[in-house]
Amino acid sequence: MKRITLAETTHFIIKEHLQAGDIAIDATLGNGHDCLFLAECVGSTGHVYGFDIQTQALESTRQRLHDLNAAPVTLIRANHADMRHYIPEAEQGHISAIMFNLGYLPGTDKSIMTQTQTTLQAIEVACDLLASQGLVTVMAYPGHAGGDEETRSLQAWVQNVEFKRFSVETHFSQHHQESAPRLFVIRKLT
Ligand SMILES: C[S@@+](CC[C@H](N)C(=O)[O-])C[C@H]1O[C@@H](n2cnc3c(N)ncnc32)[C@H](O)[C@@H]1O
Repeated sequence: MKRITLAETTHFIIKEHLQAGDIAIDATLGNGHDCLFLAECVGSTGHVYGFDIQTQALESTRQRLHDLNAAPVTLIRANHADMRHYIPEAEQGHISAIMFNLGYLPGTDKSIMTQTQTTLQAIEVACDLLASQGLVTVMAYPGHAGGDEETRSLQAWVQNVEFKRFSVETHFSQHHQESAPRLFVIRKLT
């Protein structure tokens, strides 16, 4: 039987949630797979904002989106902790889904990776930008140096989330080990 990966689980959850015309954010563009997926979900009447600190990630994403006949995408080279400054005020509080896929850009300099402090800041901002019932997904990788501390901090953060305003589910890999990736799904309740 084919195993469902956490990446597939993330896409399944988001696809169930997003509708044509929605606004979404990819907070870590990387090679643009998630950005393309979001753009297809929200369709030509929606909009996707994508963030990454590396020019190379924006370039890879741009190439991946080349033949896209779907949502307009705005690619922004910036730290996701600052994303609020790039989202029009009228759209703040109206974002339907925000994806984080933490870590480093595969095949490049592994020292350029997400950092605990800015990741937590960015997730706080993301929660603020969400529409009511909107969701933030965070794929975390405790199996590499730095990713372990980042995942522990995230775990602590989700345990202290304001339960009246948000619910959090954690999904583990099928053969769960401490070092295996995990997916946090944060839903805004009000
Ligand atoms: C695992 S990759 C993302 C994979 C991507 N979602 C995809 O579909 O290909 C993580 C990305 O996060 C980016 N990144 C690291 N720190 C960041 C930050 N503070 N703000 C925005 N992006 C960051 C890295 O440059 C890297 O491209």
